[in-house]
This record gives sequence, C-alpha cells and structure tokens, in this order.
Amino acid sequence: MYHIECIECRRKYQADEVIYTCTCGGLLEVVYDYSNIHLTKKDLSGPLSVWKYRALLPVGREPVTLKEGGTPLYRADRIAESVGLREVYVKHEGMNPTGSFKDRGMTVGVTKALELGMKTVACASTGNTSASLAVYGAKAGVPAVVLLPSGKVALGKLAQALMHGAKVLSIRGNFDDALKLVRDLCDREGFYLLNSVNPYRLEGQKTIAFEIADQLGWEAPDRVVLPVGNAGNITAIYKGFKELKRLGIINSVPKMTGIQAEGASPVAQAIKNNTEAITPEARPETVATAIRIGNPVNAVKALIAIRESGGTAETVSDEEIIKAQQELASLEGIGVEPASASSIAGLRKLVEMGIIEKDERVVCVTTGHLLKDSEHVLAVCPKPIEIDATIEAVRKAVFSDQP
Ligand code: F0G
Repeated sequence: MYHIECIECRRKYQADEVIYTCTCGGLLEVVYDYSNIHLTKKDLSGPLSVWKYRALLPVGREPVTLKEGGTPLYRADRIAESVGLREVYVKHEGMNPTGSFKDRGMTVGVTKALELGMKTVACASTGNTSASLAVYGAKAGVPAVVLLPSGKVALGKLAQALMHGAKVLSIRGNFDDALKLVRDLCDREGFYLLNSVNPYRLEGQKTIAFEIADQLGWEAPDRVVLPVGNAGNITAIYKGFKELKRLGIINSVPKMTGIQAEGASPVAQAIKNNTEAITPEARPETVATAIRIGNPVNAVKALIAIRESGGTAETVSDEEIIKAQQELASLEGIGVEPASASSIAGLRKLVEMGIIEKDERVVCVTTGHLLKDSEHVLAVCPKPIEIDATIEAVRKAVFSDQP
C-alpha cells in the first residue's frame, strides 16, 4: 500500500488523486507502508529490469513496457586512471529503449495514466522526456502533447517525438517557460502531466539506484555523480537508495553529487553559497541542451538529497563537458550526449579539488545516448576527409597528419 505525501507539510493524499503539488505548494512524494514490504536480496535475484522491483513501484495493473532498465554498469578503469581514482563505474542510461533514463519514469508514469483513466498525457521537455513520452504514449495508445523550447532541442530527440506521433509544440521561450505553460494546460484540460514534478514518474527513475546496488552485489557505492537539470533524477536515485537501506538490503547511502553546466547552475550555486533555496536563472545557456534549465522544479528535493547524503554539487564549463564527452568516447567506448558527459567532467573537477577522495568507489550516471545529439558531434569533431576513389588517395589520407 502507498499514498502521496507533501515533503513540506506532510499532508497526505490518496494514491488515486490526480495531484502534482500540495495545496501548500510543497513537492509530493510516494510513501509506502514499508513495514509491510518484506523484501530480501533473494527475492530480487534474476535479470535486471525496472519491473523486477515491482514490490517498490506504485502500480497495480499490467505495465506499459518496452523493456526498460537493465542498463550496463561498466567498470571504467581508463577514466579512473585519467582522473586519478581507483574505482569508477559508468551506469549507461543511454542504453534504455529510447536512449535515455526517462524511459524508467515513463513506463511507470504512463502505466499510472492508464490506471487513473487519463485520456491524454503531456510534458514540457528539453528533448528526452518528450521522446520518451511520445514512445510510451504510442505503446499505450494514449495521445501525447509535448512542449519544447524552440531551436534548443537536439535533433535526435525531436525526431523521436515526431515519428512516434506526439503533438509537438515548439515554444518561443525556454524550458522553464514551457513547463509553466504545460502545467497550466494540464490543469485546464485534464491532461496527465508527466514532468518530474509528478511523483509517480520519479518512482520509476529510482530503479537506477536499485540496479546500481544490484550490479555491485547489493552494496551502495560511496558516491553517485550525475547531471542535474530539472533536478528530478538526483532526488529519485536518492530515494531509491534510502528505501533499500530502510529495508535492510544495503547498509549505506551514497553521497549524491550533482553536476550542472556553468550557464544553468542554480542548484550548484545554492550548495556553494549554502543558501536554503535556489535563485532561478532567467537565461540559462549551455551546450548541454538537456540541462539548459534555470528554475528546476525539484530544487527543494535535490538540495535535501545532496545535503542529507553528505554529497555536493559543482559546475562545469561547456569546454570541460565536451572534453569529457570525447574522453569517455575514446577511452571507454561509451557514447553519451553532452549533458551526460557533465558527470565525468564534474568527477574530474571534484577529484582535482580534493573533494572526491582517491579510494572512493564512484558511479557516474550517463543519462542519454550519443546519437541523441549528432549535430553537436559534427560541430566538435574533425570533418570526414573527402578524397578520390583511388588507393593512392586512400593511402595518402590514412598516413597524413590530418586527424
Ligand atoms: N541528462 C539528460 C540527458 C537529460 O535529458 C536530463 C533532463 C537530465 C540529465 C537532467 O535530469 O531533469 O531529472 O535533473 N532532461 C529533461 C527533459 C529536462 O526534458 O528531457 P533532471
């Protein structure tokens, strides 16, 4: 059994109420009757998938699923050596069905939409959420409406939203504007809002924590490093680890470490300045368009996750992001989009600053696949070398100094 509860005033709501924030304005979370959940490591054996952890998911019907989760946890020894750590892992969420971690949230969120009898699903998005919603909406046979910041969504993501049949609206404004609009639209039209302010969606995303612990033999790492945009994922993963600890399946919770781009860093600034709340950024800007967000809706939860777990938050420049993306690609064979590379850039910076210690066991979450943003790749990598179709020309080019 479970219900929805406000994280501020602790007001409780029934599980079937369609509500996204408390009447007091606070964010909501799903709370289970943990005393009635008796889970052991043995119950959780078997192949990885989001729905393997069903006992800790708030759904009572057949899921709308495309086999999400079960993403690889790679040991990244060459990255570890390059940044000066002993044990680094990469949890590559780009290996989900639509190429990002959003699928974990959408399989639960869209299933919930059906359970609640909702007729249309909607979201604002920097790209990945819209791609995932379009796909799960298609699978469920429910129309999807997505609001995107015009000109700022990577083409791969836009292509997915279009091909899978969402109604795609390109807003003359940024993500924060789009989110405000879609919340208003959902209130007026009774559409089901599937941004990360929806507590059910975050329940799916917490399975990243379950899988990391599972893949490490039911141990928590010392630290999890991940990009922060609207700040849902860091709170979801933290909740996942806390639940495992509460159920006695793991003994500790990792230090939650959020990385933001310099031009879109309200959460990192609040941590650095030790302020209680964030100061929104009116004009966020970064090459990592997925996290180009100035007013993260889950900021309050994210600050709690970071502070309670003894973690931190840091900013990285666009140059550092691009360098980390190239490094991960060439040293480990892991292709990620710019936002995801910020976790590696942040790892390097925090090791250099002496905040991450040499013997920590660190997991970096890479949230989206390289192919999401191939335009960016073409902008930062050397061009293909065009030559005549002769063996002389091929040999000359192969042995030339040109990259
Ligand atoms: N990485 C990628 C690839 C993302 O697409 C996002 C968010 C994040 C990290 C940050 O996660 O918002 O939970 O802190 N993308 C959203 C979207 C905003 O619309 O696709 P967060």
